[in-house]
Amino acid sequence: MTHHEYDVVIVGAGGAGMRAALESSERSRTAVLTKLYPTRSHTGAAQGGMAAALANVEDDSAEWHVFDTIKGGDYLVDQDAAEILCREAIDAVLDLEKMGLPFNRTPEGKVDQRRFGGHTRNHGEAAVRRACYSADRTGHMILQTLYQQCIKQGVEFFNEFYVLDVILDKDPQATPAGEEVSVTGVVALELATGEIHTFAAKSVVFATGGAGKVFKTTSNAHTLTGDGMAIALGAGLPLEDMEFFQFHPTGLAGLGILLSEAARGEGGILRNSEGERFMERYAPTIKDLAPRDMVARAMANEVREGRGAGPHKDYVLLDLTHLEPAHIDEKLPDITEFARTYLGVEPYTEPVPVYPTAHYAMGGIPTNVTGQVLRSNSEPVTGLYAAGECACVSVHGANRLGTNSLLDINVFGRRAGIAAAEHAATVASVPVMADDAASGVETLVATLRGSVGAGTERVADLRKALQETMDRNVQVFRDADSLEEARGVIADVKARYANVGIHDRGTRYNTDLLEAIELKFLIDLSEVVIAGALAREESRGGHYREDFPKRDDEKFLHHTMAYGTADGVRLDTKPVVITTYQPMERKY
Ligand code: FUM
Repeated sequence: MTHHEYDVVIVGAGGAGMRAALESSERSRTAVLTKLYPTRSHTGAAQGGMAAALANVEDDSAEWHVFDTIKGGDYLVDQDAAEILCREAIDAVLDLEKMGLPFNRTPEGKVDQRRFGGHTRNHGEAAVRRACYSADRTGHMILQTLYQQCIKQGVEFFNEFYVLDVILDKDPQATPAGEEVSVTGVVALELATGEIHTFAAKSVVFATGGAGKVFKTTSNAHTLTGDGMAIALGAGLPLEDMEFFQFHPTGLAGLGILLSEAARGEGGILRNSEGERFMERYAPTIKDLAPRDMVARAMANEVREGRGAGPHKDYVLLDLTHLEPAHIDEKLPDITEFARTYLGVEPYTEPVPVYPTAHYAMGGIPTNVTGQVLRSNSEPVTGLYAAGECACVSVHGANRLGTNSLLDINVFGRRAGIAAAEHAATVASVPVMADDAASGVETLVATLRGSVGAGTERVADLRKALQETMDRNVQVFRDADSLEEARGVIADVKARYANVGIHDRGTRYNTDLLEAIELKFLIDLSEVVIAGALAREESRGGHYREDFPKRDDEKFLHHTMAYGTADGVRLDTKPVVITTYQPMERKY
């Protein structure tokens, strides 16, 4: 085992992690630990754009962006956080531009902007062009730009170091309110060697991304197994609003591969088997550019009512055929190539089969607006921060608007990096980690290695059972029966996991071991998603209960806080911060 000491350790090298690293490494000795190679992080798969009310192409204001974000999030957004997100958006884009990000340009040379779902002018009057973009590779460009800047600045990366535990000096659930709980470091498995490393740090920032792999049909990469969220839960910290999962309307049918909302921003139209532009019925003002939760439900409803397309009538069609091929090539080159490659469809002349795909966790590790992780409704853990999809500062509430995610990672990644470095500057020496800090990870790894030839349950079988029940029962539409069924399957998967067996005893790049650990994280998170979804007997944003189809502000205008206990998930509530906009009925 090797021990390291840093002022700041950042876990994850996607957009949030690297944006944090740029700030932190300027001010303190910083290490970035990543399960992957940085440029393979999932930020690179984000396509359509990053929102900011630059007003480069038409009238816009940060205030309208704030309103759209709150309304889009079905009033579960913490409004103080949304104000920060939307006001700091403009500098966030300009910072990236100065770093050299190749945004698409207007003829006058300004950063061009396109339309995206739920972003409107003057509080809902019409769709507005607010998304700054780089063709349909905006996330890829952000990731590459941030990585180049990190290299230029000499950021120290530990690539393929899989963090498996965060070490706190006290049990946060057993420590009375008012008593300080501090981070001391993290424990990581080096994938190339199998060696366990401890990293003591004055500050730790989690930026580990999402958890889309709890579902079978997802736009998320294989690596998106909710590691940071599950580690926080295992350390006794809460997770916030995990029942809110976003289903992106346009996954390639049957595959889930993302086909950017930018396709509709550029004029694409959703049609049912009758050729009808059905979104006119569901959102008469902004139609195909309604927020994702509404579009995904409308699509699923068309299919349920028999107006789905294809031999099994199980998808709808995204029609780009009225757009000029040159326009498609310039603005949407990657996604149209995906349609050709994976479905054999030519988007110039044929509509593309699409269906909702699990895309984004609105919930995550609760933080305040400086990125500090909370151990209760308001008490921060000293030195511990989180940003990006793994975090929940609650700028997305019950439903995130497209392009607010690339914005979130830049605004709150930056904030967390600054705060982590500033905290480190106030601490005299790197904390001492307990002698047995790595024992949990050592036991986990040894148990799994010891399961070779002994355990009878296969990781792939358990993962399949988990993902299939989540796909079937915790979908765009849910109810108590479907959620109870999922809960039963997950309980069974968890029991069977006790007897899991891997096949590779090796130490170098043991992906068998890696997948078994990831599965444990998926089980823990699925339990939390289902518990929150069962308790929330209302419909709001991405969480639609067929047995409770209305939003119920009387009973449920609060965040869910979920804690892991020996007896299962314990749920609590946390008030929503409302500054300006009182909840209203959501119409588009
Ligand atoms: O559709 C998209 O391009 C996805 C963007 C997002 O999730 O923000």
